[in-house]
Amino acid sequence: MQKTKVGLIGCGKISSNYLECIKNFDHLEIAACADIHLEAANQTASEYDIPKSSFVAELLDDPAIEIVLNLTIPAAHVEVGKKALMKGKHVYCEKPLALNRNEGLELLALADEKGLRIGSAPDTFLGSGLQTCRRLIDDGAIGRPHAATAFMASAGPESWHPNPFFYFQKGGGPLFDMGPYYFTALAFLLGPVERVTAISQISMPERVATCEEHYGASIKVETPTHYSGLVEFECGALATSMFTFDAKGKSIHPYMEIYGSKGTLICPNPNKFDDPVLLKTTQDEEWRNIEHTHTHYAGRGIGLADMARAIRENRPHRANGQLAFHVLDIMQGFDESSQNREPRKIESACQKPEPLPIDISDHEWLKPKPPEEPDTDKDE
Ligand SMILES: NC(=O)c1ccc[n+]([C@@H]2O[C@H](COP(=O)([O-])OP(=O)(O)OC[C@H]3O[C@@H](n4cnc5c(N)ncnc54)[C@H](O)[C@@H]3O)[C@@H](O)[C@H]2O)c1
Repeated sequence: MQKTKVGLIGCGKISSNYLECIKNFDHLEIAACADIHLEAANQTASEYDIPKSSFVAELLDDPAIEIVLNLTIPAAHVEVGKKALMKGKHVYCEKPLALNRNEGLELLALADEKGLRIGSAPDTFLGSGLQTCRRLIDDGAIGRPHAATAFMASAGPESWHPNPFFYFQKGGGPLFDMGPYYFTALAFLLGPVERVTAISQISMPERVATCEEHYGASIKVETPTHYSGLVEFECGALATSMFTFDAKGKSIHPYMEIYGSKGTLICPNPNKFDDPVLLKTTQDEEWRNIEHTHTHYAGRGIGLADMARAIRENRPHRANGQLAFHVLDIMQGFDESSQNREPRKIESACQKPEPLPIDISDHEWLKPKPPEEPDTDKDE
């Protein structure tokens, strides 16, 4: 089958994770890269042997590019996405899909009008950890799921990200930055959300960067850095959640737990692909570390790989715009609920994405997992 030519826009920190991962998918080819800073594009091209590097306009004018991989900062996601759609390219975007519902809807409407696809990170739910959780739930291992917890507690990105400022502007903060992992995972496991109730605060209006690149720089905080919230799912399950950049001494809360009528599931960190899954049912004395049901390779980019393949096979892709929009709607709902101090109904819907097949031998784009490598991807 003909390879899909992908154009990368946004050659920053996360681009190397994608470029490493994409090497594992034979049906994808990074044919060009671009950035608002030409040096960044040139450097990425030379490091990863990408044949062309340029400013954005030149990449978008290249008729060979079918999909734009948009790894720019959140504030540029929609602007870059729309430009790509106008040039007839499908778009796969980093999270969040947009900074707000209106922008997200505009992007999806334009894609619809043009007959093009939108895909979006996170794609961690395509990893073996969350796929195993979904299989356990679908098989009834914990009975009827009726409640969950979701905790993201970090000290904030100002100590490790080379350019941490965007995390404290609108579209950043722990909710828009990390919420997509948790809400996407929960939508994959439990289905769509009906209502949210949240509180939030800017705990420290000014922070100091301690990353090497901007050591000592003052950061003005323009978005809440702590949210607590309640989530009601259409299926009747209830979740308790927290998203914070203010846990200065970190935290030992589990990332996500799901409670059912017959047992409890400790889910992997939803920002990772292959973390352990633990199960304890009413029949178990101890927690059981569950062997993953799936053995495929997954890293940042597997959602793009699925989308490219789905375009060729004329089937829906899993990390899709509808799901990303629902997640955005939930996050904006959280924010509105916390501002207005009242519950917020979530109007959008989404389908639970299809799980990946367990037997990967029939699905040539899925590859067996390579040997473990140390994990350097932080994002929290
Ligand atoms: N850093 C991480 O660990 C991480 C992990 C997962 C997801 N993400 C997400 O990936 C995205 C990028 O994050 P990052 O950490 O790589 O940021 P970054 O600041 O390191 O890189 C962003 C790149 O996009 C370029 N850019 C910005 N606006 C542009 C525009 N209008 N047109 C073209 N290029 C533009 C910048 O010059 C920069 O090279 C964000 O949405 C972030 O939420 C980051």
